[in-house]
Amino acid sequence: MLVRLLYVSSAVGPQTTTVTGSILKTAHLFNKESDITGVLCQGQGLYLQVLEGQRSAVNRLYARVVSDQRHKNVELLDYEEITERRFGGWAMAHVHLSILDPMIQLKHPEFDPYSASGKLVMQGLAELIQSGQLLHEITAD
Ligand SMILES: Cc1cc2nc3c(=O)[nH]c(=O)nc-3n(C[C@H](O)[C@H](O)[C@H](O)COP(=O)(O)O)c2cc1C
Repeated sequence: MLVRLLYVSSAVGPQTTTVTGSILKTAHLFNKESDITGVLCQGQGLYLQVLEGQRSAVNRLYARVVSDQRHKNVELLDYEEITERRFGGWAMAHVHLSILDPMIQLKHPEFDPYSASGKLVMQGLAELIQSGQLLHEITAD
């Protein structure tokens, strides 16, 4: 059974390319092996991550990620059973989140992922990818 999970968290310390690079390196190796796909969006001291895959694999990875000391206040925003993947092409795509982006400001002037609807945040992430704001394209195959 396939599921898709979305959470938000707050970075502990600055979100440097070293930190992100190390997260993405692990994600690439592990996610490929476990058939997990998704997107990691970061910026403004926040992480938003979508994990898709078999339910037990996603649940196990989420439990590991929650206890990672590089972030805190991990909050589950959305969890659903799915019939197909939305981010199937990426072991972990990487996009930059800018809450001050004029497009986000126009649509959601007080955007706060901790209080926003999970479905809306998920939609926003899909739009960021469609609009070509990929930073790293770590493909699934
Ligand atoms: C924001 C964030 C996202 C992460 N995403 C993943 C991921 O998609 N896949 C993964 O294997 N590890 C990811 N990690 C790293 C895991 O939390 C963990 O460090 C890694 O799986 C190694 O686990 P271990 O130290 O228990 O062996 C992420 C960490 C953070 C802080």
